[in-house]
Amino acid sequence: MKNLMIFLFLAASFLSAAQASEIVPPSPNGIEFPKNYKDWRLVSTSHRLDNSTLRVIVGNDKAIEAVRSNNINPWPDGAILGKMVWKEATMLSWEKAVVPGEFVHVEFMEKDSKKYPSTGGWGFARWKGMELKPYGQNESFVFECFGCHTPVKESDYVFTHTSTMP
Ligand code: HEC
Repeated sequence: MKNLMIFLFLAASFLSAAQASEIVPPSPNGIEFPKNYKDWRLVSTSHRLDNSTLRVIVGNDKAIEAVRSNNINPWPDGAILGKMVWKEATMLSWEKAVVPGEFVHVEFMEKDSKKYPSTGGWGFARWKGMELKPYGQNESFVFECFGCHTPVKESDYVFTHTSTMP
């Protein structure tokens, strides 16, 4: 009986280690995939007409705290903004409603002014598709992200305006 318990314990440990090895690979610049991003809270939403996609922008606790206290220019160190992107689709039961279709990617900007001085204090990372493939051949992909976010330097490189909620 005791041997069986030990066997079960070892089998369970092995299984959880096997699952851990399926963990999403980090971004080429070393940023780890924030596994709990689905629990983060809403900052805003957007709809891009140029590439027909719907987006939801969320923040970790530090980011939401900053939003609620209107302390977002600059955003505080530790704040992470996440953005999920879906292709737009038509709601079958109400054709005038646009709803999320195929999942495109999820991407993040994490604020750490000491760690990321060359990209405005933000660490960028993106994972593509349902398989969450890290984006970028090497760590220089961040300059593509940063370059496009530079026009909004005045709002600490962030495009999103937090949605008004009563
Ligand atoms: C071609 C321009 C462009 C590039 C390249 C780009 N972004 Fe953005 N990004 C935007 C725009 C425009 C928005 C706001 C509109 C929206 O919601 O998509 C945005 C929004 C975001 C947001 C939500 C916070 C905010 O600034 O509003 C995150 C997070 C983000 N981008 C991460 C990234 C990452 C990571 C990369 C590189 C892998 C990247 N972006 C590359 C244009 C770009």
